[in-house]
Amino acid sequence: MSSNTFGKLFSVTTFGESHGPAIGCVVDGCPPGIAIAPEDFVHDLARRATGKSRYTSQRREADEVEILSGVYEGKTTGTPIALLIRNIDARSKDYAEIAGTFRPGHADYTYWQKYGIRDPRGGGRASARETTMRVAAAVIAKKWLKQTFGIEVHGWMAQMDDIVPDMPEGAAIDFAIVEGNPFFWPIAAQLPELESRINALRKAGDSCGARINVVATGVPPGWGEPVYGKLDAELASALMSINAVKGVEIGAGFASVAQKGSGHRDEMRLDGFMSNRAGGILGGISSGQDIVASIALKPTSSIPAPGRSVNAAGEEVEVRTKGRHDPCVGIRATPIAEAMVALVLMDQALRHRAQCGDVRDVRPRIPAHRPKHHT
Ligand SMILES: Cc1cc2nc3c(=O)[nH]c(=O)nc-3n(C[C@H](O)[C@H](O)[C@H](O)COP(=O)(O)O)c2cc1C
Repeated sequence: MSSNTFGKLFSVTTFGESHGPAIGCVVDGCPPGIAIAPEDFVHDLARRATGKSRYTSQRREADEVEILSGVYEGKTTGTPIALLIRNIDARSKDYAEIAGTFRPGHADYTYWQKYGIRDPRGGGRASARETTMRVAAAVIAKKWLKQTFGIEVHGWMAQMDDIVPDMPEGAAIDFAIVEGNPFFWPIAAQLPELESRINALRKAGDSCGARINVVATGVPPGWGEPVYGKLDAELASALMSINAVKGVEIGAGFASVAQKGSGHRDEMRLDGFMSNRAGGILGGISSGQDIVASIALKPTSSIPAPGRSVNAAGEEVEVRTKGRHDPCVGIRATPIAEAMVALVLMDQALRHRAQCGDVRDVRPRIPAHRPKHHT
């Protein structure tokens, strides 16, 4: 298995490289009758795109989706949906110098070791350009989840370098602010600080990491397949598959280590759960609470600051990476993290319907704890 396919019933296969003629995906197992048009993809692809602000890579791709199959008269037909985006702004000459050199922290060395050959242009298949197609496929998933269950998936940046949102923990997130700035940051007053941090890093030829939080609201109880298809396990796997992700937390995550059982457990009343430290998942199954996940993204490895490495000829060399790179890869990761959560939920929804579609209306049903994760 070469693992370019994701999902069991709602399955997404992506293909393409950063500087090849096009990238694309095939979405198989999609329910028929969902209205889909090229315009549906515009919003989320623009949120992920480069070149929209000074704080991301300056590569400028139109990211226009061509629907090649699986949609007839504006509706999905249940047959494979093929989506294609042509690469129009690849500048491969930027990579000539590093074609035979392994950038420290990037995937150059491991691709070389695994395949014995690699496409160095723009990072080839290891480039986050591939995540464009995950976001495109998730547009279909988000639409179906919303119209079938009222589910919404929203993310925001919860840390950049050592800067954290200036707000009490768990306080309400104003998504109008998040969507109104290129960092997906929830506090407008801190934007100048973020901007000057990126400017200073750029000046120093360096980069920084970030944390992204994602919340899915409206997920009914019961989704997730114990024991090898647990919802939290599949979310962790999906989120970890995003380039540069080095950590995933569900709910309280690693903070659980220092909590007591009496403080960690989410107590229940008939009018609702009293907290949500589980992040909406118990025993690998959704509880009906918000699904809450958080990811850590490492700092961009392609930086102008000189670094020691080796080349394919077996020599020790110094590397300085030129070209158009994101100074903080986390700045564009919010829509990608949302996409992976939506794709997992869509797949699990169909899997739950397949096995347990006859199980209905189990009582009592405890309402979600609706605190402060969203407004
Ligand atoms: C949205 C996004 C943008 C990225 N942009 C860059 C970039 O401009 N330069 C770079 O070196 N890495 C970038 N990366 C990270 C690399 O793709 C990633 O570090 C590389 O494939 C190695 O994989 P790993 O970090 O998961 O081990 C980006 C990642 C994401 C999620």
